[in-house]
Amino acid sequence: MSKNVLVTGAARGIGKAIALRLAADGHDVAVNDIAAQETELETVVKEIRGLGRRSAAVTADVSDPAAVTAMVAETVTALGALDVMVANAGIAQVLPLLEVTPEDWDRMLAINARGIFLCYQAAAKQMIAQGGGGKIIGAASIVAHRPFALLGHYSASKWAVRGLTQAAAMEWAEHGITVNAYCPGIVGTAMWDLIDEKLAESEGLRKGQAIEKYSNLIHLGRVSVPEDVASYVSYLASPDSDYMTGQSVMIDGGIQFA
Ligand SMILES: NC(=O)c1ccc[n+]([C@@H]2O[C@H](COP(=O)([O-])OP(=O)(O)OC[C@H]3O[C@@H](n4cnc5c(N)ncnc54)[C@H](O)[C@@H]3O)[C@@H](O)[C@H]2O)c1
Repeated sequence: MSKNVLVTGAARGIGKAIALRLAADGHDVAVNDIAAQETELETVVKEIRGLGRRSAAVTADVSDPAAVTAMVAETVTALGALDVMVANAGIAQVLPLLEVTPEDWDRMLAINARGIFLCYQAAAKQMIAQGGGGKIIGAASIVAHRPFALLGHYSASKWAVRGLTQAAAMEWAEHGITVNAYCPGIVGTAMWDLIDEKLAESEGLRKGQAIEKYSNLIHLGRVSVPEDVASYVSYLASPDSDYMTGQSVMIDGGIQFA
């Protein structure tokens, strides 16, 4: 059955792959990103419409409460309802904990933890107002289970998503809303380009060598592509996952085992 979906951080990378996969699955998909990514976002909207589904671009900074409320309202205006929220937007920063400033910490937590919280909360309010039922899906990470050194505050933000996902699953089960998170490992996106560059710098490696080094941890023997994550989110958005809630499952090619 076709659902009305909103995917945040969908101008590129994992969010874009999720939006296109859910559209290919037969859903109507509104896509969000920051205003600076509007051109890329419009391209995603066109691709979704090319798949025969309805779409809309909704720019908002997910760390801003008023902007998140407006984003959900605009999605409902464009699509008619909100059945699935994919709170995907996030940032990374590679820095030793000894050098993380309070400002670095606050920015990381504002987008990766408060941003996910605001999206979960606004989606749940909308779903409850619609009469209940719905699927809320968030971006955690393998580092929500096992932090990476030099990604300390990023790891803390993703542990927050895992805890929030469990609490939200408990509180919103009575409304028929399930809440789950996906935990990718090493996905070849702009985010990992940045992580590779900064890890390489701090470990005296060349560009490309850090991702190669960390890829040796992947038992399936290849770096992930965004579509690996999107296929799992497709399951989380489908009725096949109806009996699953509160989980933060790793989809990492076998780096870390639960
Ligand atoms: N790439 C990986 O290996 C990996 C691994 C584990 C988890 N993740 C998580 O998956 C999600 C997507 O990662 P990605 O690799 O596609 O990253 P990416 O940097 O390629 O894309 C992230 C998108 O989010 C947007 N964004 C950033 N801040 C925003 C804000 N405040 N409001 C709205 N949009 C914002 C960016 O503009 C960008 O388009 C993130 O939450 C990330 O932490 C990624």
